[in-house]
Amino acid sequence: MKRLTEFDQLADPTFSTAVIDWQRSHGRHTLPWQNTTDGYRIWLSEIMLQQTQVAAVLGYYARFLERFPSVQALAEAPLDDVMAHWSGLGYYTRARNLHACARRVVLEYGGVFPGDPALLAELPGIGRSTAAAIAAFSSGARAAIMDGNVKRVFARVFGIDQYPGEKRVEDALWRRADALLPEEGIEAYTQGLMDLGATLCTRSRPDCPRCPLRARCVAHATDRTAQLPIRKPKKTSPEKRAALLVVLDRGQVLLEQRPGSGIWGGLMSLPEADGHLGIEVQAMQSSGVAAAAAQFGAVEDIQALRPLVHVFTHYKLHIAPWQVTLSARAGASARHVWWDLERIDAAPLPAPVKKLLLALARPGLFDDLPATPTL
Ligand code: ADE
Repeated sequence: MKRLTEFDQLADPTFSTAVIDWQRSHGRHTLPWQNTTDGYRIWLSEIMLQQTQVAAVLGYYARFLERFPSVQALAEAPLDDVMAHWSGLGYYTRARNLHACARRVVLEYGGVFPGDPALLAELPGIGRSTAAAIAAFSSGARAAIMDGNVKRVFARVFGIDQYPGEKRVEDALWRRADALLPEEGIEAYTQGLMDLGATLCTRSRPDCPRCPLRARCVAHATDRTAQLPIRKPKKTSPEKRAALLVVLDRGQVLLEQRPGSGIWGGLMSLPEADGHLGIEVQAMQSSGVAAAAAQFGAVEDIQALRPLVHVFTHYKLHIAPWQVTLSARAGASARHVWWDLERIDAAPLPAPVKKLLLALARPGLFDDLPATPTL
């Protein structure tokens, strides 16, 4: 018996039939780049439609064709003129590539866009999916598209619960798309996938009752249209730790000037004992803290205060504060000042440090804080 390849296993002619039938009866048929096989007009629309919605493209498309009615006219025009007609559409690399592509089509192909998707994909600004769309619409070539809309449709219909931006997942989507291509009707199929993604299988409010793929849709059956496709995973923010010294003496606290740049740049803060200690380790190492505090005077007493967590945009800082009481101060230093705890409100301190010192200055102020407060 013949062994089934992955391609055979993914193939399912009823999928493309459902898309084609729906496109013919419910899809879009009067967009200005439809009902033509003119490679120039189709190419121009596909480039404009990359990352841009139909409604935004319509006016630009008409004005552009009026000014540059053929690939020759576009190739001969100065780049500035092309840019001016693209102005406001965004992603301007597209316009520079468009101009370069027009010149190459005139020079290398006598002004006729090739019908082979592999040749199209070698031209500037034309990736694999755009090449397939141009070739399908202009020459009826059987080639698969895979843009953002199609990824969403596939992720939902096939219940793909991995992030489709990941190379391995995207490769698998392409293999699936290749296996599902119809033998006939590639134009309606390609347009149908685009129309489904843009009009029914939308990101936030999919219109499942009208969808021709509803009966086979895994996301619909398992009520996961809101979860699929999986969004780009957020990078987990790194965690850093710092032991801060609250050095007290006669109603004053020792503040340290921070470097001009970097975190809390230019502000004052508390001296740091060691940015590398883990909180658990610190709990046993008051001796290390005592050694660090010794530069500021004769240490009389050391006490661990409640740890705090401060969340920055790019990382989380675990702060282990230590209260150090001195019996005598060391000599003055240019980077340090003794500040009256009473006036701590007026000190140029980062918010979490100020909160910590306010709590010390006015005991009882934060009694309602949870055990590990997030400042
Ligand atoms: N998006 C990308 N190509 C498209 C096309 N040909 N029609 C509608 N939307 C599209």
